[in-house]
Order: sequence, then C-alpha cells, then structure tokens
Amino acid sequence: MINLKKESTILITGSSGLVGNSLVNKLTSKGYKKILTPSSKELDLRNQNQVENYFKNNKIDYVFHLAAKIGGYKGKIDYPAEFIYDNLIMACNIVESSKKHNIKRLIFIGSSTIYSNEGHQPFKEESLLLGKLEPINEGYALAKTMGLKLCEYYNRQYNTNFIGLVVCNIYGPNDNFGSNPHVIASLIEKFYSAKKNNLSFVQINSSGKIKREFIFVEDLVEAMLYFIEHANTKELKTFVNIGYSKDVSIKDLALLIKEVVGYPGEIKFDELREEDMPKRLLDIRKANKLGWAPKTSIKEGIKLTYDWFLKNKCGK
Ligand SMILES: NC(=O)c1ccc[n+]([C@@H]2O[C@H](COP(=O)([O-])OP(=O)(O)OC[C@H]3O[C@@H](n4cnc5c(N)ncnc54)[C@H](OP(=O)(O)O)[C@@H]3O)[C@@H](O)[C@H]2O)c1
Repeated sequence: MINLKKESTILITGSSGLVGNSLVNKLTSKGYKKILTPSSKELDLRNQNQVENYFKNNKIDYVFHLAAKIGGYKGKIDYPAEFIYDNLIMACNIVESSKKHNIKRLIFIGSSTIYSNEGHQPFKEESLLLGKLEPINEGYALAKTMGLKLCEYYNRQYNTNFIGLVVCNIYGPNDNFGSNPHVIASLIEKFYSAKKNNLSFVQINSSGKIKREFIFVEDLVEAMLYFIEHANTKELKTFVNIGYSKDVSIKDLALLIKEVVGYPGEIKFDELREEDMPKRLLDIRKANKLGWAPKTSIKEGIKLTYDWFLKNKCGK
C-alpha cells in the first residue's frame, strides 16, 4: 500500500463529468493542490500528439482516466462508430503515455456492459469474454474491454500499476440533469417537474420490470482512492468489479424516487416496451476481499442527490 502524497500531481480526465466532479471535490477537500483537470477543448484525448505533449509538459504522478464518450439509447444507435472509436483511442493514448512517462498508478473505469447476458449473474470478473454482448452496447463495451486488457497487458509486460475498475450504473450529485441524463437523474427531474406542475401522472419509458444496479458516486470515489493506494496487489494486475451488490427494478426505483420527491400522483409504465438485458448485476466479492465495500444505501443516495438537485439545478 502507498499513500497518495499531498504534493503529487494528479491528472483527472473527464473532470467535468459525474464522477470527475466528485473526485475533484474529494481530493481538494483532502488538501491535494496539484490536480490537473483539462476539458476536452483544452486536451482532446483522441489526439495522440496532444496527449503525449500534455504528459511531456506536466510531471504527472497519478492518472484517473474517467473521460468517455457516453450516451443514451438513441446516441448509441445514431453514433456507433464514435462510441467504439473515441473510447478505444482515448484508452490507447492514455495508457501508452502513462507507460512512457512512468506514471506511478493509473485508474481506468470500465462498465458492467462488458459482460454478456449469456453469463451467470451476478457477473464475476472471470465472466469477461464468455458470450455475445448486447447489440446496443457492443461498441462501447468492446472499447471498455480493450481498455481493461490494455491495463492488464501493460502490467504484465512493463510491470506498470494500471488498475481497471468495472462499474455498474452511477448516480449522485453533479449528474447530467437536463441533456441526456442517466436513469436516476432523469426520474428525479420527471417527478420534480410533475409535482411542480400538478400533473396527475408520470409516464415512465420502461415496462418497469428490468432490474439495474446503481452505485452512489461518492462510494465509487472511495473505491478509486482505495484501489489506487493498494495497486500492487496481485489481483489488481487484472481488474475488479465495483458495484452496490443489489439491484432494483425500474418500478421500485420509480416508487422510491416518487416518495423522496413527495409526488402524490400516479406512475404509468410502458408495458409493451421492448427492452435490453432484463438484469445486470455485478459480483463484488473480489473487491470485498481486497478490503472495499459500498456504504450508501440507494434510498440515502437518492435523498442526497435530490437535495443537490434542489440546491443546484431545479429552475436553472
Ligand atoms: N455514468 C455511468 O452510469 C457509468 C457507468 C459505468 C461506467 N461509467 C464510466 O465512468 C466514467 C465516468 O463517467 P461519467 O458518467 O462521469 O461521464 P460523463 O459525466 O458523461 O462525463 C464524460 C467526460 O468525458 C470527457 N470527454 C469526452 N470526450 C472527451 C475527449 N475526446 N477528450 C477529453 N475528454 C473527453 C468530457 O469532457 P468535456 O465535458 O470537457 O467534454 C466529460 O468530462 C466513464 O469512463 C464511463 O464510461 C459510467
């Protein structure tokens, strides 16, 4: 184990995003001062020369690679090439420059979409590459799988400490309310707006039956900090699953958010909607054995997210 020194230079890619914002806040509150947070305009991670020059010009000790091309159902249908190319090339550029510049430790974030529906659930780390991927997520999932494999192979060949964390759906303060929001952010907005406008019902674009796993963003930040400090553990030469370890149906999630928001009306589901994987749950026992576990219950996390939304987003 190492302690991340306060004077370390830390590069956070994707710092304007849901996870990046929480990580920057956490590191700042702990007294880290040399945090590099370039936006995509300042540093386009798809451009190898830009990435290489950035590493040359900044003496970086640690890297959290959080940047990704992310989007909802429609985005993945309309821009499949961007999902595979952007995510893959960003991972290649970051991993290669991190090796060249002797970065002490790197965190790479994967996604639970890398596992095939054909596999046994909850998904263990060993289930990777055991079947076909969901067609809608295939490009994104392949790029994420390659990112994990890059870390694993570089560790094997160059003895680097590059750590892959495979994460379920994430939610929390700083989520992307408004444009292209994630599930929980979108439901909070819907119930808030229905309450404000005295609507008699909220229409949910799901049958309500599919189940998903959600982790509170601050628990993920704790996991990243924990595993970057424990990076030379043998098991981390591959990757580890990070999740909440329980899933929830979209129906129960909607009922929970309705309660937290205090919306008195009805909820209507789209019973006929065709949906992708009925369930996607991670087995997090490896992370538990290595010493990490999530702390925030889904109800508590949703309350914290809603409080943040009320203070920062609604009406803006
Ligand atoms: N959110 C989830 O539910 C979820 C679930 C599993 C895994 N993950 C993974 O967790 C990580 C963080 O996700 P998030 O939800 O925090 O992401 P997010 O809120 O969508 O933010 C994406 C970030 O990526 C940056 N970015 C995109 N293209 C870039 C480029 N070409 N060059 C430089 N930066 C670029 C954006 O920067 P600008 O704003 O400057 O453009 C933004 O900061 C990602 O790797 C994602 O794949 C997310």
